Amino acid sequence: MSIPTLGAETKLSVIRNPERRVCGETVPPGQGPSSLETVSKPVSKERPAVVKAMLINLTTLAFVAFAFTLLWLVSSLSAKRKRLGLPPGPPRLPVIGNLHQAPQEYPWRKYQEWSKQYGPIFSLQYGLSTIIMLSNHQTAHDLLDKRSNIYSSRPHVVMGGDCVSKGLRTLLMPYGQRWRNHQRLQAAYLNIRVSQSYRVLQDLESKQLMFELLNPDADFSDRFHRYSSSLIFGLAYGRRLTRGDEPEIKAIDQVMENFLYAARVGTWIVDSLPMLNYLPRFLAPWKRLGDRLHAFESKLYMENMARGRQSGSWNWAKLASGMKEGQDMSPEELAYDVGIIYEAGSDTTTMALEVFTLAMLLYPDVMKKGQAEVDAVCGDDRLPSFEDSEQLPYVHALVKETLRWRPVSAGGIPHAVTQEDEYMGYRIPAGATVIGNHWAIHLDEDVYDKPLEFNPDRWIDHPDLPSAPFGFGRRICTGQHIAKNSLLINIARILWAFDIGYKYKIVNGNKERCEVDPYAFTQGFNSRPSKFEASFKVRNEQRSRLVSEVWQVTEKDMDKVMELIRQKGTNKT
Ligand code: HEM
Repeated sequence: MSIPTLGAETKLSVIRNPERRVCGETVPPGQGPSSLETVSKPVSKERPAVVKAMLINLTTLAFVAFAFTLLWLVSSLSAKRKRLGLPPGPPRLPVIGNLHQAPQEYPWRKYQEWSKQYGPIFSLQYGLSTIIMLSNHQTAHDLLDKRSNIYSSRPHVVMGGDCVSKGLRTLLMPYGQRWRNHQRLQAAYLNIRVSQSYRVLQDLESKQLMFELLNPDADFSDRFHRYSSSLIFGLAYGRRLTRGDEPEIKAIDQVMENFLYAARVGTWIVDSLPMLNYLPRFLAPWKRLGDRLHAFESKLYMENMARGRQSGSWNWAKLASGMKEGQDMSPEELAYDVGIIYEAGSDTTTMALEVFTLAMLLYPDVMKKGQAEVDAVCGDDRLPSFEDSEQLPYVHALVKETLRWRPVSAGGIPHAVTQEDEYMGYRIPAGATVIGNHWAIHLDEDVYDKPLEFNPDRWIDHPDLPSAPFGFGRRICTGQHIAKNSLLINIARILWAFDIGYKYKIVNGNKERCEVDPYAFTQGFNSRPSKFEASFKVRNEQRSRLVSEVWQVTEKDMDKVMELIRQKGTNKT
């Protein structure tokens, strides 16, 4: 190809005599500094016209050459990307891809198996959706954390996202302005600094939990659930849930059950063929069901919000209503913003406390080591408090190990990539669903020695071990600081007050131990141990008395507690 001199000359003549815009004003030809004059100013006055023309030509040529190189680079890069293959994965069938192999039970375990065969990044095709599965810290960190500017969206789920949530659930919102507004709002009451002020309420709720566990007939899982729900409900709306069977707890459990049903993969044809959602309602039964489920949760969130705003005490409902981001939202959207925090926070902490209980049954030596640490710090005379935190490294390690050993979000919460990308020589197509498989990541033999064992010491011996139970990048759990504090205080106090052990039952006149299965877990977005029995036996009479006494004298007036939180959080008295 010859160098386009003619084209360059033609362009030059256009550049030499244009009408130009300088700071928005149109400047007639011959007036004001020409772009060429500006470029050649230092030499143009002294040099003859022929030299000047040559210089101009050279500049233009250089510019044209640069533009061509850039064009070539961009086109060869995109051609290379097109040539690049997707990450490897199980062989696919035409049209359905891997749909026939989609695991129905504990999908995260099957995906872990596949990662051993295909590597830490592999791909699946479920109908029209490309799934990129990340199975170790390195790949998840490289993409979801380091490239979070393009890996922070969510896959579009029609039934759960559009029909039930009407686009109002933060968890499912695509990455964009709406999600950012919700993030800003939530950052005001969930950021790390403000979250420390909630310790006042966590202390109170935890004292009630210890008191309740003194009752040998107490259902520990039920009591954990009361703790977690009451904490978040109290912060959100200014009222505690002191019994655990309040309609607000039952309603949120129902909302989560509905949502799990609605968001279940493979249940709704419209999730595989989204264009079906354009069908009129009478031909689309999922729309009618979606409307009903939406009406139920919307009513709950709106009513909670209204009561929260009327409450005498400081709370998130009031804070969010007063913020600009909150005022720019419809009342329903704002009610969802606060409501889904209650939804996200009420079960997850419960599940982690159940995992801790299961681990204590299976690893009594670990429990004894934890008890020895809290005993050394607090003795017989007082319950552990947040002020002891720094002196409880083993309890911190126990919290981390609990979240690693059986990650609550075992399968990971799917992200979506908004732009085509290249990684490790593979093509990641725009719109692909990208999942960090928490199960595989936290049981990776290359990172954790004997990963199946519950061993808190690994965090003491190697404090820099990676851990990501709260997810990745810009979508990382916004409630993580509250959750960590809840786990710390309750684990420390349970160790101080109780021996966790097996329960026994009488079968045919014989005493039999209620066995537990360390791998029996539920399925869904989050995974908890299947119902199991455990006994919480108070360690001695003095500690039993102290737990009761401390609970009796604790300040329970919510207006006073929340005012203290407001003052601590805002540094204002
Ligand atoms: C042990 C307890 C908890 C665990 C293990 C946990 C885990 C997670 C995970 C894995 C995600 C998704 C992150 C990702 O997409 O990569 C998430 C999201 C979220 N969590 Fe948590 N969480 C816990 C407690 C809480 C609490 C107490 C709250 C509220 C106070 C909360 C509020 C949220 C919210 C609002 C999101 C959605 C973030 C978004 O998509 O923008 N979580 N959590």
